[in-house]
Amino acid sequence: MKFLLAVLLISAASAQDFKCPKGWVGYGRYCYYFSDAVWNWNDANAVCRGRQGNLASVENADEWAFIDSQLNIKRREYWFGLNDKAKEGTFVWSDRTKVNQTLLNTLWSNGQPDDYKKSEDCVHNWYRTGGSKLNDGNCNAKMPYICKRKNNLVEFCDIEDGWHFLNNMCYKLFLDPKTWDGARQDCQDQDGDLMVVQNTNEIKFISDSISCGLHDNIWLGLSDRKEFQAQPMTFKWVNKAGFNNAFRGQWDTNQPSNVSLGNNCVFVLGTSNYKWRTDACGVERSYICERPRGSCPKGWRSWNAQPGTGPGLCSIVS
Ligand SMILES: *[C@@H]1O[C@H](CO)[C@@H](O)[C@H](O)[C@H]1NC(C)=O
Ligand SMILES: *[C@@H]1O[C@H](CO)[C@@H](O)[C@H](O)[C@H]1NC(C)=O
Repeated sequence: MKFLLAVLLISAASAQDFKCPKGWVGYGRYCYYFSDAVWNWNDANAVCRGRQGNLASVENADEWAFIDSQLNIKRREYWFGLNDKAKEGTFVWSDRTKVNQTLLNTLWSNGQPDDYKKSEDCVHNWYRTGGSKLNDGNCNAKMPYICKRKNNLVEFCDIEDGWHFLNNMCYKLFLDPKTWDGARQDCQDQDGDLMVVQNTNEIKFISDSISCGLHDNIWLGLSDRKEFQAQPMTFKWVNKAGFNNAFRGQWDTNQPSNVSLGNNCVFVLGTSNYKWRTDACGVERSYICERPRGSCPKGWRSWNAQPGTGPGLCSIVS
């Protein structure tokens, strides 16, 4: 077995070779994903962004004809990126495509948008035989959604291997329980580390992952161990960042508790409220790893990628 290593340079020309991910349909310069899952508009938009796209926009009549032909096969309603959440009556596409008002006027269903009960800011299609039309609906309604992304993107995360893209990083839940050190070693072996929580999107990601992952308790990359310049009962993340007090509401009642001198590790309680608790680091739990996003072709492994500084290196074992 030979270990090959190559520096990946994605040029515009070579990027043309990349195609739509599995389950997406291509049209023009874009790929489209018609979901089976249902989400409210915000969550649907987040899911699309996690796939390096946005909720679908419509740039011109040809693109609408393509989408409508797909809707004629699917025969149901989907969220689009169009919304007037920021300013009532001013509709924008979430991917910042410029609104063509002439085109849009031809797409609305009769009498729409009507902002019914002043509670409709997000746009979906009404499926009709012979052609869908748009309607403004309540953003909290759950329905399938259409994601759209450019057809020449390289994947930031190894999605087929279960990694998710969020805030420029890749995350994966591992259900096989390990001690905190064992979990950390496993993350490092995959060019990452235990999860560091920096914002509320990540907190939502954790609860979504846990609810999909059979409600296991999950180690985070947070401890009071001195190797991270922490002190007993003063917690630091594995990247030595201090505990941000904005997250103190994540602690469960009577937490953090001093379970083990200078050896308290933090986990998310998967069984009920997703709050955080301490435990002795030697206990075995599931865990979430994170690693910087890469830009490697399918089948190649990204490593040494740093957020914002490009793809790093791609390696493949052959
Ligand atoms: C807007 O859409 C109309 C109808 O499809 C089309 O005729 C027109 O060229 C478009 N305008 C722009 C600026 O793309
Ligand atoms: C934590 O508990 C240990 C005993 O397990 C004790 O020696 C230590 O003083 C406690 N530390 C704090 C900060 O409460």
